[in-house]
Amino acid sequence: MTHQTLIRRDGHRPLLLDLFCCAGGAAVGYRRAGFDVHGVDIAPRPNYPFPMHQGDALAFLAELIASGEIERYAFVHSSPPCQAGCALTVGTNRSQGWGRAHVDLVSETRALLEASGLPYVIEQPNGRAEIRKDLTLCGEMFGLGVLRHRNFELGRWSVHKPEHIPHRGRVRGWRHGEFFDGPYVAAYGNGGGKPTISELQVAMGITWTEVREELTEAIPPAYSQWIGRAFLAHARLGVAA
Ligand SMILES: C[S@@+](CC[C@H](N)C(=O)[O-])C[C@H]1O[C@@H](n2cnc3c(N)ncnc32)[C@H](O)[C@@H]1O
Repeated sequence: MTHQTLIRRDGHRPLLLDLFCCAGGAAVGYRRAGFDVHGVDIAPRPNYPFPMHQGDALAFLAELIASGEIERYAFVHSSPPCQAGCALTVGTNRSQGWGRAHVDLVSETRALLEASGLPYVIEQPNGRAEIRKDLTLCGEMFGLGVLRHRNFELGRWSVHKPEHIPHRGRVRGWRHGEFFDGPYVAAYGNGGGKPTISELQVAMGITWTEVREELTEAIPPAYSQWIGRAFLAHARLGVAA
């Protein structure tokens, strides 16, 4: 099946599978780009704004591949958590008896995405698991109030990598005992100078959750809207691999 055939001409939006979906920062951007979105997360995510399955994302993907149901989807986004650095995941593992605490989720995710035959994205922050940095997006590219550099490995499609642009100033907050002011807020942690929930919502462009953890785990929808539009343009041109 070519990607061209996956771009539906019957009035329905192409369907996107959002693995490790959390509250749907990525999902909302893809929806705005033109997809219908289904999410998968191991934790209950009542704030996720689209249909979602609660369970292990990789087991779910493996089942979709085995049953052939994967053919319903046009594209897969994945944000596998970093096991060493993701407190939420460690907590989730403990509370739900999930036994993947030391598994390299990025490699497993990539292997299954390759087996799916679909075009895909794997997203990671800097300094986490190794992925190919085919694309790096920054909040300043979209005029956001966060910097939030995020890297994306693209499978079975490609896009011209946009230039990084200079930041307008610093990230507001305390560092080494000194307070720095600036146009960006820190979308992580709880320490001094960290933003309020409403500051975070405005800075990220995420209004549908007030859960700090969900806000600080998310990618801004502007990023996935950009990626979704780029993918759809690419597929419409019939240049997918
Ligand atoms: C970095 S967050 C994803 C953020 C999301 N892309 C967004 O933009 O809002 C990672 C998510 O993975 C979930 N998670 C961790 N292990 C998982 C697993 N094995 N299967 C499914 N979800 C998992 C966590 O509950 C968390 O919500």
